[in-house]
Amino acid sequence: MIVSVLVFVHWLHATAKSLFLKPNRSLNGVVPMSDLNVKLELIESLKGHTGKVWCAKWNASGTLLASCGEDKTVRLWGTSGGQWKLKTVLQDGHQKTVRDLSWSPCGKFLATASFDGTTAIWDNLGGQFECNAALEGHENEVKSVSWCPSGNLIATCSRDKSVWIWQVENDDYDCAAVLNAHIQDVKKVAWSPEGDVLASASYDETIKMFKEDPNDGEWSNVATLKSHNTTVWSISFDKTGTRLASCADDGTVKIWRQYLPGNPEGVGTVDNDPTWKCVCTLSGYHDGPVYDIAWHPSEDLIVTAACDNGVRLFRMEPESDPNEPSFSLVAANYAAHSQDVNSVKWHPTDPKLFVTAGDDSTVSIWQVT
Ligand SMILES: *[C@@H]1O[C@H](CO)[C@@H](O)[C@H](O)[C@H]1NC(C)=O
Ligand SMILES: *[C@@H]1O[C@H](CO)[C@@H](O)[C@H](O)[C@H]1NC(C)=O
Ligand SMILES: *[C@@H]1O[C@H](CO)[C@@H](O)[C@H](O)[C@H]1NC(C)=O
Repeated sequence: MIVSVLVFVHWLHATAKSLFLKPNRSLNGVVPMSDLNVKLELIESLKGHTGKVWCAKWNASGTLLASCGEDKTVRLWGTSGGQWKLKTVLQDGHQKTVRDLSWSPCGKFLATASFDGTTAIWDNLGGQFECNAALEGHENEVKSVSWCPSGNLIATCSRDKSVWIWQVENDDYDCAAVLNAHIQDVKKVAWSPEGDVLASASYDETIKMFKEDPNDGEWSNVATLKSHNTTVWSISFDKTGTRLASCADDGTVKIWRQYLPGNPEGVGTVDNDPTWKCVCTLSGYHDGPVYDIAWHPSEDLIVTAACDNGVRLFRMEPESDPNEPSFSLVAANYAAHSQDVNSVKWHPTDPKLFVTAGDDSTVSIWQVT
């Protein structure tokens, strides 16, 4: 594992060097394909869902892959003989489209969010999954679910404009907070890697950060990130939780950086809370909405999933100023799926793999080579 990360890092440096030595590469325009010497190789194309696939995500060890979609099912895929194969289909948990899913960090539970207004919790009983709880409370479609890194909280969000936080205690799920900070449909929730901050992205064009007050246990909106001027579809923290990538309906990607009170850069803060500032905007790369974005678990690499059937890999230029970073397109596949690409997630342990899910009913596993 350590060896494979090192090899990967070495390979990235070599790749970056060969790219950056090219003197006439436009940083803001779309880099022509001939300039890209990082390749994306399709290694598996998993079929079985009928209708759109909305999300595909590995469990924490990366040995089990769950996908969900319009057909109201959750499919679990595992490897046998080096190939990914369907293991189980989870049915009867939801009445409508399953929009998103999140594994508990221990891997014993899977949470699935549905347009039927509920979030189902599935227990892994030795490979057999049983739906043992349904989180009810949202008025309509649940759009996203995220299990916090310590495992004791779950966040959900909905078209009803609210974000809910659920406390997990011995298989019991109680609502700990209902956050009514957004004024429109909330598309995505994501926990910071430390689990102390929850971020949400909305149709109201903002990203909001929430934190619990340690004194009274009350959750509140501590920051509002405004720079996109259309729906923010998705967000992803970097491994430190001090940067966030976001993607929007107009095809832009933005990188945000956290500035703590008293920061040497002199960025102003309010109430002793950090300020989040947009430090980079990538535009001109996507032809229309970008539906999902994922920051690599160890590198400054970002992958996007878009409505133009494409996946794109961006890398931060190693020498660039953290207050004004430059990202370059280093690889792309403009026909990754035959329709919209809805979801992209990195493999948790193999630094070269990621998985995408699309409207074409397909789940695809990619290798960066
Ligand atoms: C840089 O690229 C532009 C457009 O492709 C081309 O017209 C120009 O000659 C190039 N300049 C150099 C120095 O290669
Ligand atoms: C992921 O799933 C595999 C296959 O069921 C299992 O062996 C492994 O323990 C799971 N990993 C985690 C972290 O739950
Ligand atoms: C919205 O953002 C895009 C790209 O950032 C920009 O080109 C456009 O002018 C903006 N529109 C408005 C109304 O601000």
